[in-house]
Amino acid sequence: MISKKMAESLNNHLNVELFSSLLYLSMSSCANEMGLKGAANWFMVQYREEMVHVMKFFTYLVDQGVNIELTAGNAVPNTYKSLLEMMQKTLTHEQSITQRINELSEQAVLDKDHATQIFLHWFVTEQVEEENNDRDLIAKLKLVGDNGHGILMIDAEMAQRVFVQPVGAPLAV
Ligand SMILES: [Fe+2]
Ligand SMILES: [Fe+2]
Repeated sequence: MISKKMAESLNNHLNVELFSSLLYLSMSSCANEMGLKGAANWFMVQYREEMVHVMKFFTYLVDQGVNIELTAGNAVPNTYKSLLEMMQKTLTHEQSITQRINELSEQAVLDKDHATQIFLHWFVTEQVEEENNDRDLIAKLKLVGDNGHGILMIDAEMAQRVFVQPVGAPLAV
């Protein structure tokens, strides 16, 4: 059994991951509107990944006997000037998620809550991957600047991304 305070913090984070999923779903539509179908695909895959994160927290909390509270999320931004701006906002958002995961991990250690510490390990590793993916794309986008041909090459690369269901994770979508 996890503490009431730990359950509240994890439940709160579930809602933040749900917001992440909507943020990237919205970015997918913005990219589509810009004519960047590959980037739209990339953000759609990211949306599905975020739903996996949501479902991991959901299943963990349900297994711990917690009745989950879903907040009716905040408005989701849907206007961006460029793909570079979207990727920069994505990186900033993921850095804030990393910070939250670290805080949850510290809380679990203080609580001597071993089950939650083990549960959060996957997310600690995942956040390194998330930030790294975003930094790679930002670097490439900065290299090409406003060059339309360069942006379309990056868009073609982003079209290749496929959603991979993590082994053992609950089905999200
Ligand atoms: Fe996430
Ligand atoms: Fe990921």
